[in-house]
Amino acid sequence: MRFGVKVLAELLTLVAVGSGQEFRPEIPKVWDDAASAGFEVPLAKRDRSPRHLSSSEYYALKVRPIYKTYPMYEPGKEPAGYLEWLKQQEPEIVFDPAKLKTKRDWIAAGKLVFEEDVLLFPLPPGWPAASGGLPASREGILPPFPDRSKYIIRKKGVLEVGENSCASCHTRVMPDGSSLPGAQGVFGVLKDPRKVREEVRELNPEALTQMREEFWIFWGAPWVESKEEFFQRMSFEELVRVRLGEHPGVVERQGTSGTHPPHVPSLIGLKDRKYLDSTGFARHRSIGDLARYAVTNQGLDTMAHYGDFQPSLEPTAFGSDKGTRYGDEQLYALALYIYSLEAPKNPNQVDDLVRRGQQIFSRQGCAGCHPPPLYTNNKLTPARGFTVPADLRKTDDILDVSVGTDTTLALKSRRGTGFYKVPSLRGVWYRNAFGHGGWVDTLEEWFDPARVKSDYVPNGYWMQPGPIEGHEFGLKLSVEDRKALIAFLKTL
Ligand code: HEC
Ligand code: HEC
Repeated sequence: MRFGVKVLAELLTLVAVGSGQEFRPEIPKVWDDAASAGFEVPLAKRDRSPRHLSSSEYYALKVRPIYKTYPMYEPGKEPAGYLEWLKQQEPEIVFDPAKLKTKRDWIAAGKLVFEEDVLLFPLPPGWPAASGGLPASREGILPPFPDRSKYIIRKKGVLEVGENSCASCHTRVMPDGSSLPGAQGVFGVLKDPRKVREEVRELNPEALTQMREEFWIFWGAPWVESKEEFFQRMSFEELVRVRLGEHPGVVERQGTSGTHPPHVPSLIGLKDRKYLDSTGFARHRSIGDLARYAVTNQGLDTMAHYGDFQPSLEPTAFGSDKGTRYGDEQLYALALYIYSLEAPKNPNQVDDLVRRGQQIFSRQGCAGCHPPPLYTNNKLTPARGFTVPADLRKTDDILDVSVGTDTTLALKSRRGTGFYKVPSLRGVWYRNAFGHGGWVDTLEEWFDPARVKSDYVPNGYWMQPGPIEGHEFGLKLSVEDRKALIAFLKTL
């Protein structure tokens, strides 16, 4: 017994020393011209593949310091004098690579980058207005990851709020009210159609034009439709539809599509994935590629040239102060943090039903594309009708078969490579919005044979009644077998 305790104590010391060891990382140069040239898969419309800032242009931008933030309380719950106290606080820079000694330090610093709001605004009058529907702590403190839910001090006496942290889209609120960093966010909030119609109706002509202009910066792809055609399509009804279309777990990220946005992937388990994004737009060959992905997605992509088209002339989405960037150390820490994220303990137990489901999974050939242990073969599949370019067969992992899902994102967007990647099925038990566009909300619906019928009325992000085509695997199972297959998937 005593011996056992001693061994345990020694083991614990070893673990502590292991993670406490001095860690001297080799920080990759993130925006190296050669490395960044090869990190994106070319677009289906090859001559429209993005050309980004050069390395020297990028490094001329200033590194954005990460400041200490302060909790925000639900309306009425703030301790007396809190705002006055905040106004006395000096700005404090919290990310300092010189202070990072161990790997644990680096990962903790990466969390700061993950939670950093990159777009900052003066505190709006009357803020905080509401908790956004998310559970606050017992003291009334709002969860810090949604937009505008913490105070930031960059200048003494000036309170700001911010938006667009990685955490804002990539944190899931679990059924018990806890939050799970890295998991698919539930960003979209279902809206009241009547209110949305009123809001859009109240916009004056300039505001309407501005909205259309912003959407063009977001999703415009002149090789798909001209700006005039886009503006015409963005009728009153369409603007209402786009605003109503928000669905928990689906985000109309820039460069995707207002009509066919992608679901938010879970970042847990990311280290083992070879392609990033539903369309496999970014190759994930190294930690440097994940850093490059973060850089492009926080605004560099809207400034890129797609042939002769540049959606935005200014780095507006790229930090509040035009012309700021992440530091290479910040990005390295961010990537280490993402790689360190883990799934919570799966509450679903293996029982007879699950074991039967596992056999059905093998018999149905699911493992051909979703083999264990990752439950993805990490390959790309061509969208319906896309001819795989010969050169990509040599450089990339591509299957010949198409699963036949909607082609819009793969063929008609700024992330449109012509492919969809085979997603990992790990963690489906804590996700919703399945299929790359989140068209169905549950696995039950994904395997419901009715979903491919012409009169189908979906529950996920699919705007009209009608079939959700493609990926017909597992649709011909008996009710019992389907139940078993789903039970198995929920244990992954
Ligand atoms: C506005 C919401 C939003 C923000 C902010 C955001 N993401 Fe994402 N992220 C998405 C969506 C949506 C996708 C899916 C894009 C697609 O499939 O085309 C995505 C995809 C990803 C992927 C690809 C994962 C995979 O398996 O394909 C990574 C990695 C990622 N995000 C990391 C980050 C990091 C790091 C940050 C902060 C620097 C960040 N994201 C900020 C919404 C967001
Ligand atoms: C030929 C390859 C292939 C086979 C075989 C296959 N899948 Fe898939 N699976 C895919 C691809 C590709 C996607 C993504 C499709 C999309 O989003 O457009 C996908 C998506 C899924 C999703 C949705 C995951 C998410 O994150 O949205 C589930 C669940 C799934 N497959 C389960 C299965 C099961 C169960 C089987 C067997 C009955 C199976 N798949 C067979 C390629 C395959």
